[in-house]
Amino acid sequence: MQIPYSQVTPQRDYLELSRRRFIFRSMAAAAGALVLPQLLTGSGVKLNGVVKSSYRVDDKMTPYDVVTGYNNFYEFGTSKDQPAKLAQKLQTSPWTVSIEGEVVKPRTLDLDQVMKLAPLEERVYRHRCVEGWSIVVPWIGFSLSTILKQVEPTSKAKYVAFQSSYDKKTMLGSFQAGIEFPYVEGLRLDEAMHPLALLCVGLYGESLPNQNGAPLRLVVPWKYGFKSIKSVVKIRFMEKQPPTTWNLSAPSEYGFYSNVNPEVDHPRWSQAKERRLGEFLKRPTLKFNGYGDQVATLYNGMDLRRYN
Ligand code: MTE
Repeated sequence: MQIPYSQVTPQRDYLELSRRRFIFRSMAAAAGALVLPQLLTGSGVKLNGVVKSSYRVDDKMTPYDVVTGYNNFYEFGTSKDQPAKLAQKLQTSPWTVSIEGEVVKPRTLDLDQVMKLAPLEERVYRHRCVEGWSIVVPWIGFSLSTILKQVEPTSKAKYVAFQSSYDKKTMLGSFQAGIEFPYVEGLRLDEAMHPLALLCVGLYGESLPNQNGAPLRLVVPWKYGFKSIKSVVKIRFMEKQPPTTWNLSAPSEYGFYSNVNPEVDHPRWSQAKERRLGEFLKRPTLKFNGYGDQVATLYNGMDLRRYN
C-alpha cells in the first residue's frame, strides 16, 4: 500500500520524537529505580540494581558454596558446616534494627527502610578469620556510616556497639558454644564511620543466606572476622568502650581492636600466615589485611601490640 506523502513523518520530526522517547524512557527508568527500591523478602533472593564499587581486590573470589558452607555462627553450632543447616530456623522477617544511645534522634528502621537509605554496592573484600583461614567475598551493601548518620550522634558518642539477634528457642547451638549471647561487638566511632566499614545485606548478587548473618551484618575487612557481627538488631552510640563477645570470653586472647596484624601472634598460634580456603599453600597475612593505605592513619601513635 502506498502511504500518502502527507502522512510520512519528516525525518527531522522523527528524530525529535525518538530523542523525546529516549529521554522519557531514561527518566522513567531512573524514577523506577527511585520509587521502586529494593525490597528484601528473604535470604538468597536476587538483588537488583547493585552497582560495582571500586572497593574490590583483584584476588580470586572464593566459590559461593565455600562462602555459604563454611561458617562461624556460634548461635547455630560451633562446627563450620552447622550454620548452613541450623540457621535456616533464623526468622529474618519482620526485622528491625534500632539505633540509639548518644544520639539526637534515636530510630528504629525496618529492613525496607534500611534498603532505601543508599544504592547497593558490590564490594569484593578479603575476609581473614582469627583462626588462620581467609576468603574473598563479593559482599553487597553500603557504608555503615550511611545508617549511623541517620540519628545524629551527640558529641559524647565515642564508640558504637552492635548486638546480634538472640532467640534461645531456635539458636540451639548457643548452649554449647562457650560464649555469652547475644553476640556483641564494637568499633571506635572513627572506625565505624570509615567508608570501608560495610553494612552488608547480601553476597554474590543475592540477599544474605541465613548462615552468613541475614538479613543485616557488618563487614569490617581490616579486622579479624569476629568483628563482622551477624544478624544485627541493635546499634548503640556510647561514650565508653563497649564490651565485645570474644574479649569478654577470653580477654588475654582477643582485644577490642583486633586489627589483622601478622606481627602480633595470638597467644596460642602465629598470625603470620593464612590459608585461603581452597588453596593448598599458606600465604603471608597482610597488615590490616591489605587495607593499610586506607585505614592505618586511624591508629597513628597507637601501640598495636598493646591495643591488639
Ligand atoms: N556473629 C555472630 N552473631 N555470631 C558468630 O558466631 N562469628 C564471627 C563473625 N560474626 C559470629 C558472628 C566470626 S568468628 C567470623 S570469622 C565471621 O562472622 C564469619 O562470617 P562468615 O560465616 O560469613 O564467613
